[in-house]
Amino acid sequence: MARIAITDGMANDAVRALKKAGHKVIEQFFSEEELLNGALKDFDAVIVRSATKLTQPIIEANLGKMRVIGRAGVGVDNINLESAGKNGITVVNAPRASTQSVVELTMAHLLSSVRHVPKSDRSMRQSKWEKKSLKGTELSGKSLGLIGFGRIAQGVGKIAQVIGMTVHTYDPYLPPKIAKLQNTRLHKNVDTLFSSCTHISVHCNLNEETSHLVNLARMKMMPGESVNGVKCGNHIINCARGGIINEDDLLTALDEGIIASAALDVFEIEPVSKGNKLVQHPNFHSTPHIGAATVEAQKRVGLDIVRNVMTVLAGKKSEFVVNKQYLK
Ligand code: MLT
Repeated sequence: MARIAITDGMANDAVRALKKAGHKVIEQFFSEEELLNGALKDFDAVIVRSATKLTQPIIEANLGKMRVIGRAGVGVDNINLESAGKNGITVVNAPRASTQSVVELTMAHLLSSVRHVPKSDRSMRQSKWEKKSLKGTELSGKSLGLIGFGRIAQGVGKIAQVIGMTVHTYDPYLPPKIAKLQNTRLHKNVDTLFSSCTHISVHCNLNEETSHLVNLARMKMMPGESVNGVKCGNHIINCARGGIINEDDLLTALDEGIIASAALDVFEIEPVSKGNKLVQHPNFHSTPHIGAATVEAQKRVGLDIVRNVMTVLAGKKSEFVVNKQYLK
């Protein structure tokens, strides 16, 4: 029997599965101070989402029994993978379970942006009937640029193609045959993706290579007009990770009309501070990092991470280890 801490909540079915397997489960959020004081020292495993940050000092303050860290989700940027690995702790995630939910939220943002849904709602709440100024553009006939072409981007690409968009991608790690199979134009240079697309959606991880990859200079390269001559403006969506878009640059681009609309589910700093200028901008709308927040995704994420954590605790190999390179 292992002692397992769940620090950021998890679907009930998944908690039940751990208990049914005979493990002792403690569901509790720990503050940074508590973590630095070794709150996880007596646990064999910890399962986190994004709120708990397992930095190097925190991992080092909790060495003892810890054998596995489970990330109930995809992104592992809140965990120091190197420190975990060097200290013999395996990190596993649940990369597949939330794909469909993030795909659907991305499409929701894309469609809402070009048809002014959030803006219309804000205006209706003030008893206005601004039919004339809320004329939008269709997605059909436009070019969508996907930064990163993993599972989520491929799902978005498929729906966008059904709607009638031409799909482009920039992903330096993608075998060209995958782009070809998906009828997607693969760009070797991210700049040509920007100069070819009126709509850009971000789907890559946050790392040194991708930090502020979307900046003012690149947003200025976007054409603002579709290949068939519709002045649709430029649109940006990010449901992947905060920090890939330079938010100061995005605000400038919105102010100057370089970007007609932008929608973010993720931010450089979360939660967003009160009065954030981007959030208040009339041509911007947002959601509070809810890409994976559906009943279905959370159940799948929970069950997947429980399975992956229990595999490691049982001394077996898991295909979802994300810090293999650092494990001794
Ligand atoms: C993920 O990485 O799985 C998503 O961004 C959801 C989350 O962080 O909770």
